Amino acid sequence: MMQSEFRQRREQFMAKIGTGTAILRSAPTAVMHNDVEYNFRQDSNFFYLTGFNEADAIAVLAPWHETHKFVLFVQPKDRDKETWSGYRIGVDAAKEQYGADEAYPISELDEKLTQYVEKADRIFYHLGRDRTFNQTVLDLWQRLMTTYEKKGTGPIAIEDPALLLHPLRQTKSASELALMRKAVAIAAEAHHLALEMRKPGCYEYEIQAEMERLFRLRGGVGAAYPSIVASGANACILHYTENNRQMQDGELLLVDAGCSYDYYNSDITRTYPVGNQFTAEQKILYELVLKAQLNAIEQVQPNNAWNLFHDASVRTIVEGLMSLGLLQGDIEEIIKEEKYKPFFMHGTGHWLGLDVHDVGIRQIGETWQTFQPGQVVTVEPGIYIRPDFQPFEGQPQVPDRWRGIGIRIEDDVLITETGHDVLTAAVPKTVEAMER
Ligand code: GLY
Ligand code: MN
Ligand code: MN
Repeated sequence: MMQSEFRQRREQFMAKIGTGTAILRSAPTAVMHNDVEYNFRQDSNFFYLTGFNEADAIAVLAPWHETHKFVLFVQPKDRDKETWSGYRIGVDAAKEQYGADEAYPISELDEKLTQYVEKADRIFYHLGRDRTFNQTVLDLWQRLMTTYEKKGTGPIAIEDPALLLHPLRQTKSASELALMRKAVAIAAEAHHLALEMRKPGCYEYEIQAEMERLFRLRGGVGAAYPSIVASGANACILHYTENNRQMQDGELLLVDAGCSYDYYNSDITRTYPVGNQFTAEQKILYELVLKAQLNAIEQVQPNNAWNLFHDASVRTIVEGLMSLGLLQGDIEEIIKEEKYKPFFMHGTGHWLGLDVHDVGIRQIGETWQTFQPGQVVTVEPGIYIRPDFQPFEGQPQVPDRWRGIGIRIEDDVLITETGHDVLTAAVPKTVEAMER
């Protein structure tokens, strides 16, 4: 990603915050065990506006400031520390390479931050998981408010930047889409591999290992989220990640795995028969989920309200389950009272981008937002019938032959000017393609 794109994003965001000051904190580091940390992954808002991917950094955006509109506080160069835990960009390069008007060592934060906030009329800050830093911002605010009436300036409110920043992230630029297509292409290749590998006797982790190997081999950062390789009844656990079971003939295998490529993500699910053939019940439910998914994708159109694609998949699934006798009663009542939820308990999709469950507004008050070109959404209906399935109160018990089946089909869909583009179209999902 070019620096000019980060600059352009900052300019767009600063035009919205006007006379306020935004303070952004880098992602916290997380302990894996004892003194070993997880790989660092920058906070997506911080990355989106700065491109700077180190820990222990603060970005300040003060559009009203005469000279220092973009300021970075970063870890200073330190030969000893860098020997142990990696190179640091340092204060000078933060200015030169990341376009900051001014940069300071993070140790000077308390001393230097005030000047970038005292004349702002509000602070844009997201209360994050770092309570110590939350307190730093609150203390600064408190201090500035004690002199507000005397000086006539100061921030009178703290506002979360979500409503101003997230709509920017929601619409993907050409270079963001190029990275997302790359993340999709790598994951698509991995899903082809899963289709080849899945056989009776294969362990779930063998497929996970080969897919994640490809994610790295093709230059990706790794899995976009813990890969789900779920055979048999494990497919009914939405976030199953143990991936340690040996698959058997006659079962299904649900694979939900996506790749992270240079900060952008793909998110793909396919459900295969472990042998070469679906059983009769598996095939009926597979075709139903596929129909629900295609009907939902049909609703992913510019200017369509967010709720329509979910409504389409729900209605298709309810109609199908009713015709199989697995749901009974009045269709409108079943939908309204969500009596289908024991079978289909999650939403039909989510925004996708820098975060797998990406930011973006779905609803303001009672009003659903509409899809707009450049947005990317997943479409992922499913049906899950656990062995110990409990129907909604008053609904029929499910005969044993349907139990232990879990199916989800998930694609990543870009909204275009004229309709949509299924980015993951190269990953097969027809019954014929699955049965081979
Ligand atoms: N893999 C997470 C999701 O599908 O939302
Ligand atoms: Mn998924
Ligand atoms: Mn998803």
